[in-house]
Amino acid sequence: MAERRESLRAELAQLLQGRSRFVWEVGCGHGHFLTGFADAHPEAFCIGVDIIEDRILRGERKRRRAELDNLHFMRAEATMFLEQVPEGVLFESVFILFPDPWPKKRHHKNRIMQAGFLSDVAKRCAPGAALHFRTDYAPYFEAATEVVRAHPDWRLSPETPWPFELETVFQSRAEAYQSMIAVRR
Ligand SMILES: C[S@@+](CC[C@H](N)C(=O)[O-])C[C@H]1O[C@@H](n2cnc3c(N)ncnc32)[C@H](O)[C@@H]1O
Repeated sequence: MAERRESLRAELAQLLQGRSRFVWEVGCGHGHFLTGFADAHPEAFCIGVDIIEDRILRGERKRRRAELDNLHFMRAEATMFLEQVPEGVLFESVFILFPDPWPKKRHHKNRIMQAGFLSDVAKRCAPGAALHFRTDYAPYFEAATEVVRAHPDWRLSPETPWPFELETVFQSRAEAYQSMIAVRR
């Protein structure tokens, strides 16, 4: 684990050398969304992370086909990735699209949208930076909204429009979904 942390730290330090901001997608799956986003926003530097190697390889293939040099995919666990972002580098924005819902109560602790995670992300965000959350699992949407509402570093921003639409794999399978934008205070 210590070895993985160190290699992630080194990889990120190199990738982000000379950069002060980037767009982060957590649990990027096959990379559809971020590839489209990076293509439409050449000025943004984008990194997608997922814990499943095969999904990262698929994302990488999309990146190569699209010839995008402002996009990277990395196999990493989200909280470990967050810990290894170099000092002084901030998130321009964050996307969490159709995260694993962990429906059983005893598994809720595995959900990514927790107060501690939001505190750690907030340390890496300038005021006004937005975290975009979308899910098709209504109880998770309610719980995540509540966590944001109670959090001192974030405010819900229903007036902010969703910045970019591109259907993800899980979105294409969903009958309905809900979106929430949290803005760093
Ligand atoms: C339900 S899928 C959604 C994938 C994609 N966002 C979409 O909408 O098609 C959730 C993804 O999050 C990844 N994931 C789950 N927990 C993670 C974690 N702690 N860190 C990074 N990725 C994670 C999973 O491997 C999976 O690819």
